[in-house]
Amino acid sequence: MVEAYESLDYEYALDHDCTTLSRHVFQQLQTFSADAQDLSAIMNRIALAGKLIARRLSRAGLMEGALGFTGSENVQGESVKKMDVYANEVFIAVFKQSGLVCRLASEEMEKPYYIPENCPLGRYTLLYDPIDGSSNVDININVGSIFAVRQQEGDDLDGTASDLLQSGRKLIAAGYILYGPSTVLVYSIGKGVHAFTLDPSLGEFILSSENIQMPEHGPVYSTNEGNFWQWDESIRDYIRYVHRHEGYTARYSGALVGDFHRILFQGGVFLYPGTVKKPEGKLRLLYETAPLAFLAEQAGGRASTGTQDILDAVPEKLHARTPLIIGSKEDVALVESFIQERSRQAIAAH
Ligand code: AHG
Ligand code: MN
Ligand code: MN
Repeated sequence: MVEAYESLDYEYALDHDCTTLSRHVFQQLQTFSADAQDLSAIMNRIALAGKLIARRLSRAGLMEGALGFTGSENVQGESVKKMDVYANEVFIAVFKQSGLVCRLASEEMEKPYYIPENCPLGRYTLLYDPIDGSSNVDININVGSIFAVRQQEGDDLDGTASDLLQSGRKLIAAGYILYGPSTVLVYSIGKGVHAFTLDPSLGEFILSSENIQMPEHGPVYSTNEGNFWQWDESIRDYIRYVHRHEGYTARYSGALVGDFHRILFQGGVFLYPGTVKKPEGKLRLLYETAPLAFLAEQAGGRASTGTQDILDAVPEKLHARTPLIIGSKEDVALVESFIQERSRQAIAAH
């Protein structure tokens, strides 16, 4: 009898300690259907990409050719880091011959990358930002990868991937990997937001926080105040408000993934508004702002361009940008209230 109880306890402990990512996807979908198998396998591949990137980052300072710039620019006109190229290729490599994903679209590639041999089977597209916060790479500060999964619609016979130019409401799954003191993968398939921590001794992502709920309000505002005089007056109004009221504090890491992760757990708001030179801001809709907006909404928070929900924004091209205000419901609404007030004043003045 005693032995039976002991073995039961042991099983329970194992169960509790070892909820892996692929198992969690099945638990969430409550089926082993072909779609569930696909999604579980896709998440597993993304996790493998995360492990490979985390491994390289953890040794980058000791390796030849891992850090620094490549000397070229990407389609966005931004200087490319060697780690951007490596991480971009890792995602392609893990999905080749997987039968899972027909197209990959990334910040680092002008056009989607097709894996024709996968297309008859895997009618999914992976959209990703291979390294988010690349300016942090060379100084050993946190960076991330952002991903989104969409179902391919139509045959895309002309290879333009025009079906990707739809709103974020089309997302099947989204998430990010944060390469910090530990490597954490956060994902949602539309059933809450869940975090997994990489246990290096197992080489597995293990469930560490389930059904994360973003607080309705938080003390942090996270933005690059160096752009203060480039912003619209309404954003300056908001910043003046938080400067003049108690209970606010600034945090900005230079990597959206890290700043968002803090807000996901502790509340607050991250802003990357448009500037005079770039009215659409800097961040890209399909593989930066929409996936994080999907997570924010799933965790009870919000994401806005200032005038509409990010998830309703429709990109006019693959690398389209949007302003971003994301985080706790109350804090996003506060920023929006300053934008609405200035636009009321502008209408009244006409
Ligand atoms: P990426 O490295 O993918 O180009 O993204 C960088 C983004 C984002 O991670 C961060 O929040 C923001 O750029 C920082 O921009 P600023 O240096 O203009 O503040
Ligand atoms: Mn980025
Ligand atoms: Mn990037």
